[in-house]
Amino acid sequence: MKLFDVYSKFDINITRGLGCHVWDAYGKEYLDLYGGHAVISIGHSHPAYIKALTEQLARLGFYSNAVQNPLQEHLAEKLGEASGYADYSLFLINTGAEANENAIKIAALHNRRTRIISFAKSFHGRTAAAARVTDNPNFIIAPNANMQVIFLPLNRPEQVEQEMRKGDISSIIIEGIQGVGGIHIPTDEFLRDLRSLCTKYDVCMIVDEIQSGYGRSGKFFAHQYSGIRPDLITVAKGMGNGFPIGGVLISPMFKPENGSLGSTFGGNHLACAAAISVLDVMKSENLVANAANVGQRIINSLHDLPNIKEIRGKGLMIGLEMETPVKDFRRILLHSENVFTGVAGSNIVRLLPPLSLSEAEADDALQRLAQAASAASAS
Ligand SMILES: Cc1ncc(COP(=O)(O)O)c(C=O)c1O
Repeated sequence: MKLFDVYSKFDINITRGLGCHVWDAYGKEYLDLYGGHAVISIGHSHPAYIKALTEQLARLGFYSNAVQNPLQEHLAEKLGEASGYADYSLFLINTGAEANENAIKIAALHNRRTRIISFAKSFHGRTAAAARVTDNPNFIIAPNANMQVIFLPLNRPEQVEQEMRKGDISSIIIEGIQGVGGIHIPTDEFLRDLRSLCTKYDVCMIVDEIQSGYGRSGKFFAHQYSGIRPDLITVAKGMGNGFPIGGVLISPMFKPENGSLGSTFGGNHLACAAAISVLDVMKSENLVANAANVGQRIINSLHDLPNIKEIRGKGLMIGLEMETPVKDFRRILLHSENVFTGVAGSNIVRLLPPLSLSEAEADDALQRLAQAASAASAS
């Protein structure tokens, strides 16, 4: 059997990782400023994480949601404490797209309305509803074409209110910081306006923190810079440091109804062990503060690179928009400087390293970025 070929891939086979570094099958070492797409939060192969997962696997890998699983409650308690949402409830699933599917569903079950507001350049996943609220016309296909979604520009509250006045908006969904769209940040004022509009018009506010959450922005959630509290918050990626797990944090205004949501694998024993270990390491190593400090150190220095149009981001979620396409720059970075990065569109490089990136590793990264940028501008 062949693989269904849907990904564009580098011709590199990563076989080992440690901290912020990975190695290919030939033993070549790379600095990982991509974190496997913002997934690696506490670093590759963290010893505490390996211990937690192997011990859990030796006890029990999986049993279904038909039985008690105290690990889920343990995880919810730790996540409530780490995030400042101790009064919210947690529903566990496996991926980011699933988290958004469920958040949209919880909102629709709550107010029984039909329309959703999403935003220009948004990305929320590839399953039916998550794809439909993603700002990409290619994602509209038969199974989701009938969903009613309107895309509005970021930071224009008057346009949001105009739609909400019609009375049929169920939810709005917005990323804490837009990732795939190129590191665009809703202003704090806009988030506060959205919060009050949602309350005024009884619309559920969903903040997608799948990429920007779990400490990446230098706060536990990116929206916490604005001081708002959304009704639903979706998480995945960094939550399991590579073990698939996602969640929806649900405000107390929603009342659970037996059978309304469910998942075979969601919240399984191994996934919970991974997510608990991630929160323990984040706390003991102070990784949210580290992301804030090291991220700011990088952002301050990136302005010195040649050919930069704009630097955007918070913490360790950083976008470098260049004046020209970044293809050569990223090729040189990967093959000559041994640095993995992410991309958005043609002109934006995304940096999403593990939250454990040290100051020394950041300085090393900056040096490699500078070398690649001058090589790319000379070529
Ligand atoms: C903001 C955001 N939401 C949702 C998703 C979808 O997550 P997953 O690929 O785990 O379904 C992503 C993935 O990149 C994302 O960045």
